Amino acid sequence: MKLNCTQWLRNKQGHMLLKLVVAILFMGLAFRLVFFRSTRLPPVLEEIPLTEKTELAEPPLPVQVQENEDQAPREENVEEKCDLFTGDWIPNPSGPIYTNQSCSLIESHQNCMNNGRPDTGYLYWRWNPRDCEIPPFDPERFLETMRHKTWAVIGDSISRNHVQSLLCMLSMVEQPVQVYHDEEYRSKRWHFPSYNLTISVIWSPFLVEAAIFEDFNGVSTSEVELYLDKFDKKWTDSYQNFDYIIFSSGEWYLKSAIYHENNTIVGCHYCPKRNLTQLGFVFAYHKALQYVFNFIATSNHKGHIFFRTSTPDHFENGEWFSGGTCPKTTPVKEGEIELKDLNRILRDVELEEFEKAAVEASRNGVKLKLLDLTLLSLLRPDGHPGPYREFHPFAGDKNATVQNDCLHWCLPGPIDSWNDVIMEIVVNG
Ligand SMILES: *[C@@H]1O[C@H](CO)[C@@H](O)[C@H](O)[C@H]1NC(C)=O
Ligand SMILES: *[C@@H]1O[C@H](CO)[C@@H](O)[C@H](O)[C@H]1NC(C)=O
Ligand SMILES: *[C@@H]1O[C@H](CO)[C@@H](O)[C@H](O)[C@H]1NC(C)=O
Ligand SMILES: *[C@@H]1O[C@H](CO)[C@@H](O)[C@H](O)[C@H]1NC(C)=O
Ligand SMILES: *[C@@H]1O[C@H](CO)[C@@H](O)[C@H](O)[C@H]1NC(C)=O
Repeated sequence: MKLNCTQWLRNKQGHMLLKLVVAILFMGLAFRLVFFRSTRLPPVLEEIPLTEKTELAEPPLPVQVQENEDQAPREENVEEKCDLFTGDWIPNPSGPIYTNQSCSLIESHQNCMNNGRPDTGYLYWRWNPRDCEIPPFDPERFLETMRHKTWAVIGDSISRNHVQSLLCMLSMVEQPVQVYHDEEYRSKRWHFPSYNLTISVIWSPFLVEAAIFEDFNGVSTSEVELYLDKFDKKWTDSYQNFDYIIFSSGEWYLKSAIYHENNTIVGCHYCPKRNLTQLGFVFAYHKALQYVFNFIATSNHKGHIFFRTSTPDHFENGEWFSGGTCPKTTPVKEGEIELKDLNRILRDVELEEFEKAAVEASRNGVKLKLLDLTLLSLLRPDGHPGPYREFHPFAGDKNATVQNDCLHWCLPGPIDSWNDVIMEIVVNG
C-alpha cells in the first residue's frame, strides 16, 4: 500500500520536530485517558453479550464462489494476486450484519447507537480492494472452517475492540460462551460450543514485559517500567496452543517509560525528573519488536500468525486533551487525508521490523503475515465514538464539553471490515 507519507514528511521536517515533542508529551496523557478508561471497565459492562453481522469481500476470483460451496480453505496462492489493503470504501446499502440489539458484547464506550449517536450513515459502507472483490463476511462459513481451532488476538484496547466486532459477527450464528477472564477483565476467552472454536483476547499492550503504575482511573503515579528483552508471559505461555494469532502494539509506546535491558536501566522516554538518557519511544519500539519478531520467526509455530499495523486516530481541531473531535460522518478517499506524524512513525517501525522478520520466518517455515489495516482505517474518520463514548452526553446540556474518543471504533462500524479482510485471507484465501 502506498501512503506516500514519507515524501510528505520530508517537506515538513522543519517544524515537525517541535510539533512532535509537544505531541509526545501530551500523547502519554491522551492515551492514558482514552485507552485506560476504556480498558478498566467495571465487570458488569465487560460481561455484556453480543450479536452481529458484517460484509466481506474476496480477492481475484474469476467466478464468484457461492456461499457454502466449499467450506475448506482454498489454496494459499490465490490471495497473493490482490492487495487487500489498498482500495476504497463503497456504499453498502445492506449495512452491518449485526446491531446493538443483536449483540450484547459491545462495550458501552463503543456502543455508539445506544449512546445516542444521531447519524447512521457511517454504517453503510464496505471496504472494496482496488483489484478484487471480497464477499460479505459469512459467519457460518467462518465457524465451519474454524471448527476445533483456537484464536488469540493480542494487544491493547484496539485489539479488544476488534475481538468484540468478530464476536458480534459470529454471534449471528451462535452465541459464544465466556469461559475465562482475568482479574481485571482485560484478557478473556470465549468458546463456540457447536463449533469448538475458541477465541481469546490477551491484554499485552507492549508485548514485552511491563510494570504499569496507573490507578483505576488511569492516573499514573510513575513511568512505565519496560523490559525490552523480556516477554510478556501472558502470551508466550500459551503461544503454541493457538492456531491463529493476531499481534499488534504501538500506542502504549508513546507513554513515559523507563527502559530496561539485560536487567539494567538503559534510558527512558520523557522522564524529566530522572537523570537518564532520553532514548525515545522509537528506540524502544524497534528493540521490543525485534525481540518479539525474533521469537515468532524462530518459534517453529505451525499456525498462522498475523501482525496488524497500528491504527490511526482522527482527532481534529485539537488533540484529545485540547477539545479535539471527529465530527465527520462519511469516509474520505485516499489522498484526502494524511497519516499524523506519530501514527506514521509507529507504522514505519512496524513495517521495517516486520520485513526483516518475514524473511527469517519464511526461512523457518513459520507463516507470518502482515495485516496492514492502516490505510483502510485512515479513510474512516467517521467511524469513532467521538462524544458518544458516554451515554447520551448532551442529554442534560446541549453545549456540554465532552471527552471525545477518535481512536476506538463504534460497533457496529468500520472495524467490522477488518474481519471481512481477515476472512478473505484465512477462509477464502
Ligand atoms: C440500540 O440502539 C437504539 C438506538 O438506536 C436504542 O433505542 C436501543 O435501546 C439499543 N439497544 C441496545 C440493546 O443497546
Ligand atoms: C476442541 O478443540 C480442541 C483444540 O482447540 C481439541 O483439543 C479438542 O479435542 C476439541 N474437542 C472436541 C470435543 O472435539
Ligand atoms: C548483561 O550483563 C552482564 C553483567 O550483568 C554482562 O556480563 C553481559 O555481557 C551483559 N549482556 C549483554 C548482552 O549486554
Ligand atoms: C546525571 O548523571 C550523570 C552521569 O551519570 C552525572 O555525571 C550527573 O552528575 C548526574 N546529574 C544529577 C543532577 O544527578
Ligand atoms: C449553547 O451555546 C449557544 C451559543 O454558543 C447559546 O446561544 C445557547 O444559549 C447555549 N445553550 C445552552 C443550553 O447553554
